[in-house]
Amino acid sequence: MNQQRVVLITGGMGGLGETISTKMAEAGYRVAVTYSPGNKNHGEWVQQMKARGHDILAVPCDVADIDSCVQAVAAVAEQAGPIDILINNAGITRDMTFKKMDKVNWDAVLRTNLDSLFNMSKQVADGMVERGWGRIVNVSSVNGSKGAFGQTNYSAAKAGVHGFTKALALEVARKGVTVNTISPGYIGTKMVTAIPDEILNTKILPQIPVGRLGKPEEVAGLIIYLASDEAAFVTGANIAINGGQHMQ
Ligand code: CAA
Repeated sequence: MNQQRVVLITGGMGGLGETISTKMAEAGYRVAVTYSPGNKNHGEWVQQMKARGHDILAVPCDVADIDSCVQAVAAVAEQAGPIDILINNAGITRDMTFKKMDKVNWDAVLRTNLDSLFNMSKQVADGMVERGWGRIVNVSSVNGSKGAFGQTNYSAAKAGVHGFTKALALEVARKGVTVNTISPGYIGTKMVTAIPDEILNTKILPQIPVGRLGKPEEVAGLIIYLASDEAAFVTGANIAINGGQHMQ
């Protein structure tokens, strides 16, 4: 990399997000993250990262709210420069059987996990096209293609992610901008370890051919590749990183 590229990672303080942020900082990027406006520990997190040698810019943002995204992206652009790489990573679960699911829990997941792609990409895509270089990586899930018990909301949103990826990738393909989806399987983060042990051990782990949860570092490595110059010919792809679950 000749100049330090600016990467913005939504939910970049969270389980997977923190590893993506720190690995990208180690790889030489200027890293900015969004955190949810309710997160009271953001200052402490930034200090912890500083102590580990990473100077990470953190801005509040509700990715479900477009005005909040406008403000967050403007703040990053002002302090770090235009965004070269956007990682749409922020996501939530509200797992429950469809019988118990109400509209509030449906909307929360669809807005945070899918509307966010519009809200954030809208702020950066035109600039990437004008500059002739850009990368957008959208974090979906194995459950977007295979479905998951208790996740009608999450599976629907994550399936939508790849449709968005492919359509936008086509529109910017000749402008030096790639748009890709990655679909992690079960990674050892808080989101997964919150699943009851009984369900994790009896229903989920036996479905993973490599026989273990994935590591956040493994996902970060894939994102770093997709963000690189070498990945210029990869666009509109949906890359599975799930220990072989997609084969079943
Ligand atoms: N497959 C098949 N059956 C399942 C099941 C599964 N994955 N999970 C639960 N069941 C069955 C239970 O065995 C139980 O069966 P019986 O009634 O015959 O005993 C029945 O469904 C009801 O289960 P619960 O008692 O757990 O029901 P609940 O209402 O208390 O909880 C639930 C339902 C919240 C969906 C809970 O089962 C759960 O948390 N499941 C895990 C959901 C999941 O996999 N989430 C993924 C989170 S990680 C993630 O999303 C990251 C990613 O991208 C991969």
